[in-house]
Amino acid sequence: MANEIKRIAVFTSGGDSPGMNAAVRAVVRTATYHDLHVYRINRGYSGMIAGEIERIETKDVGNIIHRGGTILKTSRSEEFLTKKGRQIAFDKLNAFDIDACVAIGGNGTFTGAEIFTKEFDIPFVGIPGTIDNDLYGTDYTIGFDTSINTAIEAVDRIRDTADSHNRLFFIEVMGRHAGFIALATGIGSGAETILVPESKTSEEEIIATLKKGVDRKKLFSVIIVAEGSSFGGAHQIAEKVGSVIGKHKTRVAVIGHLQRGGAPSAADRMLASRLGYGAVNALLEGQSNIMIGVQNDKLEYVPFSDAINKTKPLNEDILKMAEILAQ
Ligand code: F6P
Repeated sequence: MANEIKRIAVFTSGGDSPGMNAAVRAVVRTATYHDLHVYRINRGYSGMIAGEIERIETKDVGNIIHRGGTILKTSRSEEFLTKKGRQIAFDKLNAFDIDACVAIGGNGTFTGAEIFTKEFDIPFVGIPGTIDNDLYGTDYTIGFDTSINTAIEAVDRIRDTADSHNRLFFIEVMGRHAGFIALATGIGSGAETILVPESKTSEEEIIATLKKGVDRKKLFSVIIVAEGSSFGGAHQIAEKVGSVIGKHKTRVAVIGHLQRGGAPSAADRMLASRLGYGAVNALLEGQSNIMIGVQNDKLEYVPFSDAINKTKPLNEDILKMAEILAQ
């Protein structure tokens, strides 16, 4: 299999995440080291369908390791969800004699890749790139570390103003259906309560925790709300419990896309470099239909079907710890 692969393509898809550029750089340079020709596909699956495919070389990935976003651009393609769209995409890859692809993205990206590799005989290896950290089979996804650092810095700033006014702040972070960003942000910023989709907290429990804070003369409180929490976002929960506390005025902040941009952290640059290098080696070993992940600091191959269908749980003990430390 190894000597059959001569030309590979790399693309980013779905929500961008800090460190994607470092992964692209690693893919291009590792592949070039092995005498492969590398092609960039712009705008993910949309660009694949549109034939936005061009050569990318070592010099093109210089000076990008420190940049957030993705130089390849990205998209969420509706057309790729159709058989017709995927057939056009395959024809475009054939027109460039692409033998294999490296897909950098999250759940949606790998769902598309899995269907595609089953329909057409072309190897795909995935690199987990999403701030959500919600992919089964990898301890971390590229961008998660940067996003929690950004979110914690934002909460630190909000604490200053919450403290000055004695206010109760509900701060919403991203994560889609998963609570990894919320949990890490909440622990790292010393939040009073952390609301995550994976663990149900009742309105009464939240009120009781906040009242306890008021009783022990806490002057302000910060609650981190995952966007996918069972209450909905920060606005919804603030409306429900904010007025009951009474003593402190309530404010809401939604960190939003701020936590998706910016220069990647050292950990994300390192992770992205390892995964990019590992993805090309996996293709050369004849792997396909897998995501390359990192488990206990070792690179592992995880079938796309596991990465997308199995649920990565939040660590119960860390959830418990968060509760205890917030008291
Ligand atoms: O998957 C990454 C993510 O940032 C999620 O946390 C969030 O729910 C979603 O993407 C937002 O998507 P968009 O940028 O399309 O609004």
